[in-house]
Amino acid sequence: MGCHNTKKTLISALKKCLLFFLCVLLLCLLNGWLPDFQAINPSTFGNWSSSRNVTILLWHWPFGRPFSLRGDVCWDLYRIPHCRLVDQRSLFPSADVVVFHNRELTQGQKLPLDLPRPQGQRWAWMSLESPLYNGNLHKYRNIFNMTITYRRDADITIPYGELLPKETEGHPVEEVPQNKSFLVCWVISNYRRQHKRSQVYKELNVTVPVKVYGRWTKTPVPSSALLPTISRCYFYLAFENSVSKDYITEKLWRNAYQGGAVPVVMGPPLGDYKAVAPPNSFIHVDEFESVKDLGKYLQQLAEDKKRYNEYFAWKNQWKVKLYTDWRERMCKICSQYNSLPQHRVYSDLKAYGY
Ligand SMILES: *[C@@H]1O[C@H](CO)[C@@H](O)[C@H](O)[C@H]1NC(C)=O
Ligand SMILES: *[C@@H]1O[C@H](CO)[C@@H](O)[C@H](O)[C@H]1NC(C)=O
Ligand SMILES: *[C@@H]1O[C@H](CO)[C@@H](O)[C@H](O)[C@H]1NC(C)=O
Ligand SMILES: *[C@@H]1O[C@H](CO)[C@@H](O)[C@H](O)[C@H]1NC(C)=O
Repeated sequence: MGCHNTKKTLISALKKCLLFFLCVLLLCLLNGWLPDFQAINPSTFGNWSSSRNVTILLWHWPFGRPFSLRGDVCWDLYRIPHCRLVDQRSLFPSADVVVFHNRELTQGQKLPLDLPRPQGQRWAWMSLESPLYNGNLHKYRNIFNMTITYRRDADITIPYGELLPKETEGHPVEEVPQNKSFLVCWVISNYRRQHKRSQVYKELNVTVPVKVYGRWTKTPVPSSALLPTISRCYFYLAFENSVSKDYITEKLWRNAYQGGAVPVVMGPPLGDYKAVAPPNSFIHVDEFESVKDLGKYLQQLAEDKKRYNEYFAWKNQWKVKLYTDWRERMCKICSQYNSLPQHRVYSDLKAYGY
């Protein structure tokens, strides 16, 4: 009887199983979830294979300064696998991405428009300058497939710097830089009277003393002395040379943050800074009704040790990372290669605000 019962249960279980499978199959068919065999044909399989190298061809050296691409650069320096950086133009036919740095294009270097462009190859437009210094881009309609810039909405974003979370364990609480000799400092080489930043400086200097360094005042600071100089100031004027979307340079990341002075920033709107820098780590000029108000605020803050020190609290959680090496910027193409849009053509870079 036990045996008979077991048999019965088994048959009913099998029936249930079969029914279940039929249902699943039906669902699959309805939803189009069945394997699409076309998707696994050998040629797409090759592209998809994770061990394949992505080849990035740098068409000309940025600013005419060559650097070494010997060895597996992206892996050796940045632990980014399957990325081959090359500069030999003869490798054009096998390049997945060809990178053109804008400065050289504005200086008359030609695009290889006469070469047959392999299917799937992307041409990348790379620039770290603000739009003011990008020159006439209208002639590059329908040529580029991707952008490499500091902007957050670029295909590959390479900021001048960023903050990375710190491993909290084992790190002593950050010291707030002491030994300040100046209230506000500014390092300026390229002074232009008509720049908005020059006007803000002049107005600020009326309310509070601003110590000025750089070529303009014939007190240039050698790069080795830059951060120690800035560290002796309560505040550092991280004023950008042009006001444009996301254009936040090493003036914030290196000079102010690494120098140990609280940055007073002027450049893109407050929102652009808030997107990349922690609250209470900088002071934006736009937060004040007038430059005079800003000056008063700085003076009061420097006198209130506790409140001033709060501007350094971010250092317990974040560490500054600078981007200075073109190789790192280009290796980043590989780490994001698989999430690039399958097809994209920039009809007009200027229209995108570049
Ligand atoms: C990928 O490129 C690196 C760097 O050039 C090279 O060392 C490696 O052999 C290449 N691997 C393949 C599978 O082609
Ligand atoms: C403070 O700064 C002065 C220069 O202004 C320097 O001579 C002195 O060594 C510094 N002291 C400390 C503790 O860093
Ligand atoms: C800044 O202020 C100081 C003293 O308040 C003054 O001597 C100097 O001329 C001012 N600089 C400019 C460029 O106005
Ligand atoms: C890149 O741009 C070219 C020129 O407009 C275009 O023919 C090609 O299809 C684009 N490739 C990709 C991958 O978007």
